[in-house]
Amino acid sequence: MKKVLILLCLLMTSLSAQKFTGLALTPPMGWNSWNTFQVNIDEQLIKETAAVMISSGMQNAGYTYIVLDDGWEAKERDGNGNLVADPRRFPSGLKSLGDYLHSKGFKFGIHNCAGTKTCSGYPGGRGHEFQDARNYASWGVDYLKYDWCYHGTANAEETYKTMRDALFAAGRPVVFSLCEWGNNKPWLWGSEIGHLWRTTGDVTDCYDCQDVYALGWKYILDTQDGLEKYAGPDHWNDPDMLEVGNTGLSLAESRAQFSLWCILAAPLMAGNDIRKMPEEIRAIITNEEVIAIDQDLLGKQGYRFMQHPGKEIWVKELSNGAWAVCFFNSGDKALTVRVNWDHLSFLNGTYKIRNLWDKKDLGLTDKNFNPHIESHDVVLVKLNPVK
Ligand code: GLA
Repeated sequence: MKKVLILLCLLMTSLSAQKFTGLALTPPMGWNSWNTFQVNIDEQLIKETAAVMISSGMQNAGYTYIVLDDGWEAKERDGNGNLVADPRRFPSGLKSLGDYLHSKGFKFGIHNCAGTKTCSGYPGGRGHEFQDARNYASWGVDYLKYDWCYHGTANAEETYKTMRDALFAAGRPVVFSLCEWGNNKPWLWGSEIGHLWRTTGDVTDCYDCQDVYALGWKYILDTQDGLEKYAGPDHWNDPDMLEVGNTGLSLAESRAQFSLWCILAAPLMAGNDIRKMPEEIRAIITNEEVIAIDQDLLGKQGYRFMQHPGKEIWVKELSNGAWAVCFFNSGDKALTVRVNWDHLSFLNGTYKIRNLWDKKDLGLTDKNFNPHIESHDVVLVKLNPVK
């Protein structure tokens, strides 16, 4: 009898201790408020953003999640310990906002923190995980980005497990985004806990600047090489959000970040003010052939195949024997690359070349290819095998 009871207990624990599976078979796509607005967010901004995501074609291109980052909360929990939205900036409340986003065909994402406070000083989740998860479920939350400020001496894996279990117990499927900055190598333990995990500190809108908290995307890119083996359907490396369209990047740097994030099978979270997005940025963010590289169902993260000073080749294996190849000019002068396809040792046979930014077919890989690439820009091609 005792043995049966112990077995029953073990079974119940394992049934309750799991993540919701199948929610992120391809990397999540959406928009997040942080990169442009920091804590200055309100329900009008969110509704205007939703409207432009529809009218700009972003929703049709696959951007589904609208995520309120830090700053949505009131400064204190209520008398019963519940998290509450700032009543001034979210007067209709989050249940109403969630219903609105759902009625427009979006999924509703929210940010909080595994520590006692969020990085901007709002109430964090520590010690309130199960109560918070029930509130999120009641508001219709579909995506939780869970940060790592004010964690004290907490163990990262255990802390994120607690929130995973709380979400599961609340019963509403939620994509769980671990925002632990890569401090404790979440790629080694995150796949049983969340659907994606940050691998780095915060991105900012420059090419290769860096300070303690903020990093240009090139710096982040360099730290992603080698992590590819840890990613796959339902468990993605997250090199942080897109800075595409933000002021510190040239058009080439925006196009290059987008291309390389697609090679990395990164979550595609736009972080610009899309209400003011110029056409050339809209064209980058909604290029469906490039997005298809990110969203390819094989679910393999790409890797750096070659690096010389000022030039790199990043490649990603795709379904049906195809490959994406990204020629990246990381230097500060334009260059012409001479590509002998025979030197790309992962290829097998002859392929048709499709330039994904120019949207042009460029013939076969049976002759050399000499793309001209501006500084910090890319030439991104898809290679389809000739049967
Ligand atoms: C951390 C995260 C950012 C953002 C801010 C909000 O820095 O890494 O992505 O969520 O917190 O305060």
